[in-house]
Amino acid sequence: MENIFSEKIHWRHFFGGFSFLIIILQILTGIFLIFFYDPAIDNAYKSVQYLTNNVTGGSLMRNMHRWTAFFLFLAVLIHTIRCILRLDFMAQSKRVLWLTGVLLLLPTFMLIVTGLILPWEWKGYWFMEIIPNYSEFIPLIGHKLKSFFIESFTLPRYQVLHILVLPIIFLILINYHFLDKLRKRGVFKYIYKHALISLPLLIAIVVLAKYITIPSEDPEVIPMPLEGEYIPAPEWYFLILLLPLMYFKGSLIPVLSIYVPLLFFIAFAFLPYYLKGKAVREETEAVEYNNPAPLKKIFIRGSLVVIIFAMCTSLIYLGAYNSPTLGCNGCHHLKSGFRMGIVPRQFKDRNVLPNLDDNQWMMGHWFYPTEIY
Ligand code: HEC
Repeated sequence: MENIFSEKIHWRHFFGGFSFLIIILQILTGIFLIFFYDPAIDNAYKSVQYLTNNVTGGSLMRNMHRWTAFFLFLAVLIHTIRCILRLDFMAQSKRVLWLTGVLLLLPTFMLIVTGLILPWEWKGYWFMEIIPNYSEFIPLIGHKLKSFFIESFTLPRYQVLHILVLPIIFLILINYHFLDKLRKRGVFKYIYKHALISLPLLIAIVVLAKYITIPSEDPEVIPMPLEGEYIPAPEWYFLILLLPLMYFKGSLIPVLSIYVPLLFFIAFAFLPYYLKGKAVREETEAVEYNNPAPLKKIFIRGSLVVIIFAMCTSLIYLGAYNSPTLGCNGCHHLKSGFRMGIVPRQFKDRNVLPNLDDNQWMMGHWFYPTEIY
């Protein structure tokens, strides 16, 4: 019998392969959710509540969809760190691989944003408001862009983005990234073997999805505003991107949170293209593949990956730890009046709700809902 652990390729790109595996999981749970989600603005949250509370397996499916996104985020992070440390961008034969890999981050990011908005509870609402504000910082087109985002927003449109447009872009990129090559080796064999070696992580997703769930009812006992502050929630890792809004003022915000990352991103995506001619990696790759690196080297590389990964994740943790998971329901609760219980109908009208224009206020309200007014 062939030993699955003998195929080195699985370990070399373990987290890349794991990402692929859970993307399939994400598509499957996503398809389940499609059948219950109703994008009409008055029904969206009700349909999510119904799905979570009344449909058999609904809560598990929804929470798996959340936790899988989180694991995907982490797996992609590790995969990226490893590829950088391995100097993959130096290998000319890997140019397309590198470019598509970096570009894949964009639809992933957009899938997270749209996915957060769709349930249309207070957090989704908040997100939908803060993203257009962000675009306002871009010179010249900022104002137009902002009104475009607000005016064009409807839940059905965002649903189409989330379940159709973005997944198609995503799959095309994945195809160029590695499906092409995988097909020659046998996709199903790969999935099967990879599922076996990633079983512990897959089980972790199911366990987390079962036990750390998102609240889906106005609770009987109204929580305190800061309740849930220390409960991990997979959505929080995203807040790190919005932190500049909290700590920087004025023109520093666009510089640090839009221009620098954007320039870095573009430079990063095309890296192998300027390093043309400096390629020295090809041979070493092949040699290394046939003669595995000595243990010491593997150990040093592994520790580096762990250290960088720990640095990235602790940033995310620090940026997100104190935002309440359950607390929004403390005040945004039907018993506090209709206006507070459900997202107001005038959510697009910033003359009626002027706070929505103020990102600083929004950010502060998210982290410290009690102190803000
Ligand atoms: C301590 C009570 C309290 C908590 C907890 C709370 N909010 Fe609020 N929130 C309010 C009040 C009061 C307003 C209205 C402020 C105003 O209109 O001036 C508000 C307004 C908002 C708004 C602005 C739009 C609007 O309709 O006025 C958003 C978005 C929002 N809250 C989201 C959240 C989210 C997300 C959470 C959880 C992280 C949360 N809130 C937690 C009391 C709270």
